[in-house]
Amino acid sequence: MRLLFVGDVVGSLGREAISTYLPKLKKKYRPQVTIINGENAAGGRGITEKIYKGFLQDGADVITLGNHAWDNRQIFEFIQDAKKLVRPANFPKETTPGNGIVYVKVNQVELAVINLQARTFMVPIEDPFVVIDELIEEARQRTPLIFVDFHGEVTSEKQAMGWYTDGRVSAVVGTHTHVQTNDSRILPNGTAYLTDVGMTGPYDGILGMQREAVIEKFRTALPHRFEVVTEGRELVSYCVIDLDDKTGKATHIEAHLINPDRPFRD
Ligand SMILES: [Fe+2]
Repeated sequence: MRLLFVGDVVGSLGREAISTYLPKLKKKYRPQVTIINGENAAGGRGITEKIYKGFLQDGADVITLGNHAWDNRQIFEFIQDAKKLVRPANFPKETTPGNGIVYVKVNQVELAVINLQARTFMVPIEDPFVVIDELIEEARQRTPLIFVDFHGEVTSEKQAMGWYTDGRVSAVVGTHTHVQTNDSRILPNGTAYLTDVGMTGPYDGILGMQREAVIEKFRTALPHRFEVVTEGRELVSYCVIDLDDKTGKATHIEAHLINPDRPFRD
């Protein structure tokens, strides 16, 4: 099974980039499953039902989220019925709507897609290392093909998750920092790993936000309101992962960017 994973879609430029490039990427790589992280898709904060459905129409099979999952209140109205939307699994069980794991079936082969959130410099929710053990046990009763979007701030926590689950999941790919890392690899026991896949959206902002306010915040140490860049050049960040359908182990991973400095090629 081949997976295409596109990183954090930010605002309207990000959605535009998905509409433009997802069909091209699907034609180029012919993935069986396409996954998008959409936690910043609605103006940089959260996701709406319309955007979720738009991604499915553009060709995504599963949408993952992260710490911004709840920023747009609309999520509480549709998450329960959104079967292809997965939010971080380690939010408190009793009080959090939606699912932390979803399954996609392609030609009798099933893929489990898990979304988890890290804790370093983030809200201290439940331990992702405990929750992943439970989810692996649950998923493995159905399939050895398991994809994990680990939404986290620091490289070390993401590497730790990769090594901790090596050989037990098919892939651990990080999201949240919006900057793609150049460390895609297959760990010794067969887990594909990438610290962060990067973002999709404005190419000339700072992590997708208008530069001026971000620079002023650093310059003055005073609070500034960040707004998403809505015009200008676009960036797409993604990775492609090949899995052995029988064992669930990864055989290949590659990470790429599309932007004016690295134009798309068929
Ligand atoms: Fe995030």
